[in-house]
Amino acid sequence: MKNLNPFYSNKTKGLIYICLSAVLFAISCTSTDSKTKNSASSQSALQEKGLKHYYNAYFPMGVAVSPKALKTESESNLIKKHFISMTAENVMKMGPIHPEESKYNWGPADEIVAFAAENDLMLRGHALCWHRQFPDWMFIDKDGNQVSKEVLLQRLETHIEHVAGRYKDKIFAWDVVNEAISDAHDEFYRNSTWYQICGEDYIIKAFETARKAAPNALLFYNDYNVTNTVKREKIVQLVGKLREKGVPINGVGIQGHWSVFEPSESQLRATIDSFLPLQIALHVTELDVSIYKKEHSRNDRKESDTGVLTSELAQMQIEKYNMIFSVFRDYKEELSSVTFWNISDRRSWLDNFPVRNRKDFPLLFDQNEVPKDAYWKVIDFK
Ligand code: GLA
Repeated sequence: MKNLNPFYSNKTKGLIYICLSAVLFAISCTSTDSKTKNSASSQSALQEKGLKHYYNAYFPMGVAVSPKALKTESESNLIKKHFISMTAENVMKMGPIHPEESKYNWGPADEIVAFAAENDLMLRGHALCWHRQFPDWMFIDKDGNQVSKEVLLQRLETHIEHVAGRYKDKIFAWDVVNEAISDAHDEFYRNSTWYQICGEDYIIKAFETARKAAPNALLFYNDYNVTNTVKREKIVQLVGKLREKGVPINGVGIQGHWSVFEPSESQLRATIDSFLPLQIALHVTELDVSIYKKEHSRNDRKESDTGVLTSELAQMQIEKYNMIFSVFRDYKEELSSVTFWNISDRRSWLDNFPVRNRKDFPLLFDQNEVPKDAYWKVIDFK
């Protein structure tokens, strides 16, 4: 018996152990099951919500699109889920929309306007006057000579009347003049063909015509490198000057082509602060955060341009996006729109600028259109 007891005792212990294990296993299965269910349901709730919902109380979230993206199911789904505003990336620019003096190419722009209407999206117009992506005919006469100021201003007026007029009540804000200020510290205006022929009068003409053609649209001056104090000061002066002359301007577009290396929080705050005395609308119009050091003109590929989003760069990007959006939230009364330039890392203009064929990863969605960690950070606030 002496020997049996331990046996029985061990057997009993063994049985109890087996039973207990089974019970514990069952309990743990149930709780794992309910945890899975809970996290699955919160996961699916998370997946239901998009950027626009998280930022509903802050500012409209927008994205630059092409007609092709609207026809690509995965991209059009991302647009509808996350954004409440769109900008035509290229098709409303002067060259694409007005290829010949007497010919307008309305089709692609109309597709974007129709998509916005069908899906209740706001639309920013971009851009009525710019020194790039202009049509060949704009600055020359039929003999190939440069046109006079009078002719050019007339052409500009006709262009804006047609384009802004066609989308009169469909577009809530227009980038009327894009990038007219010089990056050179000792030069005020960019020495573009517009400026060479018209002086600053083309800027005035553009705003005045846009106001007549689209009386209800907000009219913006839009530029990059605005975190640079010298350039920004010139933009502030330009707005002041236009206002003094009674030119109808409603806002400044801060493009926001930034990088994991810039701007710093204090530069970003100083940028927004310097426009506040103007009491003018502020939109962030072309946001992306490149993984490379920022360069605003073309360059050759360097050995260090690996085209790889390393974990270190991904972390820097998470922190930069986090900083940018926490500053934006602080300025929710001052910022009335934030637009990303392109949808996902699948395709960004930065894949070919400033270095051709150098992959960049500047957005919140990855190459498979899946939200990146930077996305989860941007929506993670109280
Ligand atoms: C500038 C223009 C945009 C676009 C980007 C690059 O920022 O304003 O229209 O061309 O460059 O895609």
